[in-house]
Amino acid sequence: MKTEISFLGVKFDNPIVLASGILGVTAASMKRCIDLGAGGVTIKSLSMEPREGHVNPTMAGYDNYFLNAVGLSNPGVKEGVKEIIKFKKMCSAPIIGSIFGGSVEEFGETAEIICESPIDILEINISCPNVKEEFGSPYAYDPKAAAAITKKVKEATSKHNIPVSTKLSPNAWNITEIAKACKEAGADAVTAVNTVSGMTIDTSFQTPLLTNKSGGVSGPALKPIAVKAVWDVYDACNMPIIATGGVTSGDDAIEMMLAGGELVGVGSAVFWRGPEVFKIIVDEMKQYMTNNNIDSLASIIGKAHTS
Ligand SMILES: Cc1cc2nc3c(=O)[nH]c(=O)nc-3n(C[C@H](O)[C@H](O)[C@H](O)COP(=O)(O)O)c2cc1C
Repeated sequence: MKTEISFLGVKFDNPIVLASGILGVTAASMKRCIDLGAGGVTIKSLSMEPREGHVNPTMAGYDNYFLNAVGLSNPGVKEGVKEIIKFKKMCSAPIIGSIFGGSVEEFGETAEIICESPIDILEINISCPNVKEEFGSPYAYDPKAAAAITKKVKEATSKHNIPVSTKLSPNAWNITEIAKACKEAGADAVTAVNTVSGMTIDTSFQTPLLTNKSGGVSGPALKPIAVKAVWDVYDACNMPIIATGGVTSGDDAIEMMLAGGELVGVGSAVFWRGPEVFKIIVDEMKQYMTNNNIDSLASIIGKAHTS
C-alpha cells in the first residue's frame, strides 16, 4: 500500500502536512508532528522583522470552527531560519517555508533570506484576512498583485531551485483567475486555501469577541468551501495543489485528494484531535484504501473529476 507522494519533486512519506501557523516555528514542535505521523510540515509565516501580532483575545473555538486573528505574530525570518536549520538536523522530512510581507519588495527580500535555509518548498502567504488595517486587502484578491509577488519571490527561489506554492484566499470570488495569474508568474503550485473572513459577537458584552473584531474561520465549517476551491483550481489550471481547509479525518483528506489536492494541509484539527491527528488521519486513509482496493494514494488525485 503506497501512501508516498512526490510533490514538485519532493518526496513525502504521506500527503498529510502541518498547515502554516498552527504549531509555531520551533524545530521541536515541527519535529513532533513528523514523529506523530505528518508527511511534512509548514512553518508559521515569517516576515522580515519580528511581529507581536494582535492583542488578545485572538482566538475563539467552537464545535465546528475556529475564529482567529493572531495577526501573523512571528520571530522574524532570521530567527525562523535558525529553527529550519535545527529541524533539518533533527530529521529528513520535507519542510515548507512560509513568508509574507507588506510590499512586493519585502516579499522578495524575505524570500532571499529564507532561501538560504534548507527548505524544500516555499509557500507565499498572500491571503491572511486578519491584517487588513496594516497591509490593506490581501494581495490574494487581485490577480496583478498576486502575480507580481509570485514573480518577485521566484527570482529568489530560482537561484536555489526551490519550488514555490502561492497560498490562495477563499474570499477571492475570482480564485481561478488568481491561480492562473500565479501560474503564469511562475508559481509551481498553489495552496488552497487560507482561512475565510468571519466574525462573532459576544452577546453578553454586545461587542465583537476578538479584539481585531473580525478574524479567519478554519476547521470543519471551512471544508466545503475549500473543496470547491480545490476543485475549481484543479479544473481551471491543471497545477499541483496543497489542499487545505477543515480536514479533520481520513475521509476529509481523501475528499481533498479526489477534488485535486496532491498534498493535504491539516491545521485546526490539531486542536480537536490532538497532535496525534496526523497518524490518525493517515491510518484512516489506509483503511479507506483497503476498503476500496486502492494500491496508491497518488492514483486518486483529481479522480472525482473523471468518475
Ligand atoms: C491560529 C492560526 C494561525 C494561522 N497562521 C497562518 C500563517 O501564519 N500563515 C498561513 O499561511 N496560514 C495561517 N493559518 C491558516 C492555516 O494554515 C490554514 O490555511 C487554515 O487554518 C485552514 O486549515 P484548517 O481548517 O485545517 O485549519 C492559520 C490558521 C490558524 C487557525
